[in-house]
Amino acid sequence: MKVLVIGSGAREHAIVRALCADPEVDLVVAAPGNPGIGRIARCVPIEGGPTDPAGVVALARECEVDLVVIGPEAPLVAGVADALRDSGFACYGPSADAARLEGSKAFAKEVMSAAEVPTGLAHVCTTIDEVAAALDSFGAPHVVKEDGLAAGKGVVVTDDRQVALDHAAACLTKVGGRVVIEEFLDGPEVSLFCVCDGTTAVPLAPAQDFKRVGDDDAGPNTGGMGAYSPLPWAPADLADHVVTRIAQPVLDEMRRRGTPFVGTLFVGLALTSRGPRVIEFNARFGDPETQVVLARLRTPLAGLLHAAASGSLDSVPALRWSDDAAVTVVVAAEHYPGPPRTGDPIAGLDEVATLDDGERTAYVLHAGTALGGDGEIVSAGGRVLSVVGTGPDLADAREVAYAAVGLIELPGSHHRTDIARKAVEGAISLSG
Ligand code: AMP
Ligand code: GLY
Repeated sequence: MKVLVIGSGAREHAIVRALCADPEVDLVVAAPGNPGIGRIARCVPIEGGPTDPAGVVALARECEVDLVVIGPEAPLVAGVADALRDSGFACYGPSADAARLEGSKAFAKEVMSAAEVPTGLAHVCTTIDEVAAALDSFGAPHVVKEDGLAAGKGVVVTDDRQVALDHAAACLTKVGGRVVIEEFLDGPEVSLFCVCDGTTAVPLAPAQDFKRVGDDDAGPNTGGMGAYSPLPWAPADLADHVVTRIAQPVLDEMRRRGTPFVGTLFVGLALTSRGPRVIEFNARFGDPETQVVLARLRTPLAGLLHAAASGSLDSVPALRWSDDAAVTVVVAAEHYPGPPRTGDPIAGLDEVATLDDGERTAYVLHAGTALGGDGEIVSAGGRVLSVVGTGPDLADAREVAYAAVGLIELPGSHHRTDIARKAVEGAISLSG
């Protein structure tokens, strides 16, 4: 099988790595990819960029691929999956209409309501007076969400009513002018990816992400600073529960509307005292959760995604998983999530492999990197690297991931030091 992967982050590096390990795969092309992906696959540019449907179709034709996997949300919302399917390509990724589950929080709420999916109560507001009334009806902590794509950064959770009002006012001035005020959902968060073919949903292993920039969830939201899987504290039947109560009803509702969902339905959950509640949907694999989930998946990835893209998931055998745990720690550039410092050399990347001892492994997935003038790897984005450790249990995986981070030198860089710490200490509990 020949596979084209669209995207350039550590998520795509993890996807490409898993595809390369699938014995059915004889070529992986990544567009545009990154220098880390370039070591294991062919990277090519896309004329017009990843959101140009005609450019991606032309590339798929040129490379004669059997499957296209779309990583990020922007190409989905731009209709790249529609263009590929219209041209006869098997494509893993939803249509622009189906991707609205991620692209519009108001649309996601409407679908959840129609499908009777448990989620937080929400008001969609178009004026600041409506916002004020909604904030007061829910009380603090306040949850204010921009109604468009904001790469996880359009959400403010705060006890300060004025901060909530200010963020809502800023959202209202943007295109569309809608803001969602939501009930605060208490309880640990889980990311669960369901591989979908429009009709059937196959859940992957749950993972947990760390969205805030600083230890102990201090500071602003980011794209994600680290993740781990499995979740020793989560109910054993969580994935089945999510499929029955959430993913399947949403798939049925989307099909009923004539916009079947093919791709990853990313269910972001809060495990509240009243049971799991949906915080958000995304229409793609999460970053950095994908790095740890795919580290543990033993079922060949290309076959699974091809089955999803061609509507035959019901004939795929039960997924196989490694018993190992996986932890990933994101190494971010100075000032991230603000405008990051870029162009610095990264040292120590090749030393990471020395940590492999047969039981524990460590490797580096690239996100914001580029090749410098002498062919050296330099930083080129906010999240620069996603360092992965695996081992027999979460403590081992965490230890080796941090040992690997310790080998890497990037001037001004920062990372969280508490990824998976509470889980290892047994300090996460479910109420109720
Ligand atoms: P989202 O972009 O919807 O994923 O929101 C980003 C982050 O904000 C989530 O991962 C949560 O940590 C937080 N968040 C969003 N909605 C809520 C909510 N209703 N209650 C509590 N926290 C929330
Ligand atoms: N890690 C969360 C996301 O990909 O949006």
